[in-house]
Amino acid sequence: MSVLIKNGNIITATDNYVADIFIEGETISSIGKNLSVHADTIIDATNKLIIPGGIDPHVHLSMPFMGTYSSDDYESGTRAALYGGTTTIIDFVLQKQGNSLQAALDEWKSRSDNNCVGDYSFHIAVTDFNDDTKKEIKHFIEEEGITSFKTFMAYKGALMIDDRQMIGLMEEVKKHGGLINVHATNGDMIDYLIAKHKSEGKLSPLYHYLSQPEITEAEASERFIDMASYTGCPGYIVHLTCEGALNAVRNATRRNQNVFVETCIQYLILDASLYEKNFEGAKWVMSPPLREKKDQQTLWAGINQGLVQVVATDHCPFMWEQKLLGKDDFSKIPNGHPAIENRMELLFSEGVIKNKITLNKYVEVTSTNAAKIFGMFPKKGTIAVGSDADIVLIDAAEKHVISASTHHMNADYSGYEGWDVTGKIKTVLLRGKVVIDDNKCLAGKGYGKFVKRNKVSQMI
Ligand code: URP
Ligand code: ZN
Ligand code: ZN
Repeated sequence: MSVLIKNGNIITATDNYVADIFIEGETISSIGKNLSVHADTIIDATNKLIIPGGIDPHVHLSMPFMGTYSSDDYESGTRAALYGGTTTIIDFVLQKQGNSLQAALDEWKSRSDNNCVGDYSFHIAVTDFNDDTKKEIKHFIEEEGITSFKTFMAYKGALMIDDRQMIGLMEEVKKHGGLINVHATNGDMIDYLIAKHKSEGKLSPLYHYLSQPEITEAEASERFIDMASYTGCPGYIVHLTCEGALNAVRNATRRNQNVFVETCIQYLILDASLYEKNFEGAKWVMSPPLREKKDQQTLWAGINQGLVQVVATDHCPFMWEQKLLGKDDFSKIPNGHPAIENRMELLFSEGVIKNKITLNKYVEVTSTNAAKIFGMFPKKGTIAVGSDADIVLIDAAEKHVISASTHHMNADYSGYEGWDVTGKIKTVLLRGKVVIDDNKCLAGKGYGKFVKRNKVSQMI
């Protein structure tokens, strides 16, 4: 099968030009002006922007968490991602403390194999680093194509590792060419504040926010960066939200240390005033919590300064009924919100249309940088001859409104209900197949392929 996309305005992380794209099979075979080729399918992209398929490296599908499971499975989650222009996701396998990494991967494969509509990969969360786990690292990097290892500095008793384990893991991961991702918040301090608020009868969602002040994130980020500097292991801070944490990264650049940073769409456009809405605030109970307006400004600036390389979602949806588990106690509200479908359009509307970031920067932070950091470039993350034909067509002028009644995520509310968006994703191709066209999904479960990733590079 071949596809010719004619006359689109192609945007990559570095270029902006009008040309045709010819796709044979799953990859791009030529790009040029007025290509004279026979194609099975012709798509007219006049007046459309053409960007590389989005990559969201931080999502949780069918994840066992806080006594329940996130409500999107691999089929509904990857399908919703495609509707929103994200063609590849990276999900998290969680080791159970006391068990092996392999046992966790097997469990996650039993849920994901043959069920994804879009392409996917895994990070593996090391929650119990010991002599046995240490022996598994090389195999994951060299045989499984899983080159990034997630760590939690919070969620004690379930996911958190201590600094001794962190250092040991960093040394092993560095030795084999991998990277450590981190949820960088001070778990002990947060647990203390949660217990304190509960003992004072302060139980509403607002106290979720007040139990995780900025300092808990700034302190842990700095500690993580120092450990990464000491061991020389490449590090990637997930869902960074605030000025204090970004300043720790800024300081690291002064000693020429390269730490990658991800923020998420919600931290750029939502703020902590939403926690004042009594229990409705549970819609935005996530960790870290939403922050202040001054933090949003720092994050937008951080993107333009090159300190923040990726805008992800931390998509971890729950039905309202699940959120109600914490009706009388904020610490029991499952943490997370649905966003996998909204990221690309919201960032386009709030970032590009409102002149906060350029189109090239938009492509960098939604696709190219994640592909480079996580060892998928140039197969993914760009529009170039030889790359997978993962391509998104956007009508930059079309307006629409976000609503749970029209989204495709398995969540019965939206954290962005009624949000006016400018810019609509019209057509999406994944490996040469049109998977989304005019608000219809044309691919079924099983179309999505597991992406084996390369060792990471320390520079992007
Ligand atoms: O609230 C969140 N972020 N839920 C998912 C788990 C995590 O910490 O990323
Ligand atoms: Zn996290
Ligand atoms: Zn997460």
